[in-house]
Amino acid sequence: MCGIVGYIGFRSGVAECLRGLERLEYRGYDSSGVAAIDTQGALAVRRAVGGVANLSQSLEEAGVVGKTAIGHTRWATHGEPSEQNAHPHVDCTGRFAVVHNGIIENHAALRAELKLKGHKFRSDTDTEVIAHLVEETFEDAGTLLGAVQQVVERLRGTFGFAVVYSEGEDKEIVTTRSGSPLVIGLGDDEVFLASDVVAVMERTRRVLFLEDGDVAVLRPDGVTFYDQAGAQVERDVTEIDWSAEAAERGGFEHFMRKEIGDQPGTVERIGSGRILFDHKGRRRVELSELDALLEGGTVPSRIAAAACGTSYHASLVAKWYLERLAKIPTDVFIASEFRYEEPLLGQTDAFLSISQSGETADTLASLALARETKLASLAICNVIGSRLTREADATFLTQAGPEVGVASTKAFTSQVIASLLVALDLGLRRGSVSHDEADAILAGLERLPTDIERVLDDEAHIEAVARRHANARAFLFLGRGVQVPVALEGALKLKEISYTPAEGGAAGEIKHGPIALIDPEVSTIFLATPSPTHRKLMANMSAIAARKGPVIAIATPGTRGLDTLAQDVIHVPHVRYELQPLVNTVVLQLLGYHVARTLGREIDKPRNLAKSVTVE
Ligand code: F6R
Repeated sequence: MCGIVGYIGFRSGVAECLRGLERLEYRGYDSSGVAAIDTQGALAVRRAVGGVANLSQSLEEAGVVGKTAIGHTRWATHGEPSEQNAHPHVDCTGRFAVVHNGIIENHAALRAELKLKGHKFRSDTDTEVIAHLVEETFEDAGTLLGAVQQVVERLRGTFGFAVVYSEGEDKEIVTTRSGSPLVIGLGDDEVFLASDVVAVMERTRRVLFLEDGDVAVLRPDGVTFYDQAGAQVERDVTEIDWSAEAAERGGFEHFMRKEIGDQPGTVERIGSGRILFDHKGRRRVELSELDALLEGGTVPSRIAAAACGTSYHASLVAKWYLERLAKIPTDVFIASEFRYEEPLLGQTDAFLSISQSGETADTLASLALARETKLASLAICNVIGSRLTREADATFLTQAGPEVGVASTKAFTSQVIASLLVALDLGLRRGSVSHDEADAILAGLERLPTDIERVLDDEAHIEAVARRHANARAFLFLGRGVQVPVALEGALKLKEISYTPAEGGAAGEIKHGPIALIDPEVSTIFLATPSPTHRKLMANMSAIAARKGPVIAIATPGTRGLDTLAQDVIHVPHVRYELQPLVNTVVLQLLGYHVARTLGREIDKPRNLAKSVTVE
């Protein structure tokens, strides 16, 4: 995720911003920048691709100084990672500089409007509209505060941003948030700004958090807050007592746990701006990302997909969506196999590549093979500018933010939603999904962040279940239908972080072999949420219980028969069948996490594993 820092006071603002940006480096970024106001009131901006060290060198070479400064680390979402697209962005007159986190959903319309008024854009980012809007409103508003208050009224989306003005009599930084976190640190005659408390806590532990809709004016001697209605308000000072290391993880013990908790936000973000309404008020999707894939508007007759690990499991869920909703036959391959086989690919097929990092060697080699066969390709990827996004014809960015924990969590749920949106778009184009059905699924998707929150709220119970089973000799994860890939993913998550053998698969298959594993030391997790094959699944559960295998059932409240069969039941909210994989996955992530935690494993960096597998 992008990072914001700011400083106003008696020290070098440039040095303070660089220090803060270094503290945010762990979050991942592709470029960075700083804007400073010097003692003459002139604005200087420097930006650089790559590490903060590159930026530091550029600032030093240019001799940029100033006691008021803002800075940014960018994780690209709109426009390639490049110096031009790095923040801060500046208006036409070069007086206002802006750093921004989040997404301005209506940026295209605002850009068009501002261009008509003669504004010249220099980047592909959504952020730049803010700089031009501040310029546009400043004369009328008379103050930077007034301009920002007016600009916020025009913006849709989630954002946190900060602006500096080069000619202000009073040196100040004006900042505001709507959805993206911002924190202000209070020193003596100095004030710090950051999107993450870790960037300020080296200097001060007295902080104030902006609330949604707040606009704050930072001056060396303090901060003034205004609420959404423009009224001056007081915000409470919080004393931070976390260690710097814990703060990087948002106060959580592990990045993996923080990233599991990020999912209500990442799930919301992926739909935002992509779910539209038709003239009858029904929700629909029309993904501009698919334009390059559907040249001439022709929907592929078959889809082949190749990926690795968790992304392979997401591809299996994608197959289910593509076949059920878009009625397009889909074959999913393990990328390390696909690349060395002679897959039968037809000229009207399309190729789907799902990857968090976009740098996985086997996935890239599979894409290269598909491209040799001249297949149109779509990448579902979390990292803009990665090789996968550069080499595929079309890219759907999952925008889940950097994933630091080696075990993939939020990237998986974003990949699944991306493939659901692709399947709905293709289904609507082909007429295989009705507008009412699409509307109902998308309405469910809008409620999903709340459903996932409810799962997270049940963590204490999930942890207790995990503790009771943590010493199992092995785990079996079973589901039917769309829950089969969820079971595979649950097993992968648990085994990679706990080192306990775990197998996942189709519940109907157990009698063909896996049931031989069952004894009182092997725990079986059943994905027993409502489905067309629920009764069959319950029969599979009976078979395990009859052999004295401990059962953990994941089910919606009111599911019958569990009290006699399952040792533990974890309740999940009832959501549409298509969406249940997402809710159930979060339970399995928490279960795996707490089993590993109980066993004292090194969760964020499991032995023998790397976050990105760039070699064979
Ligand atoms: C498991 C995990 C891996 C990755 C796999 C592919 O938690 O993270 O299985 O999913 O290495 O990586 P990407 O998605 O970057 O291609």
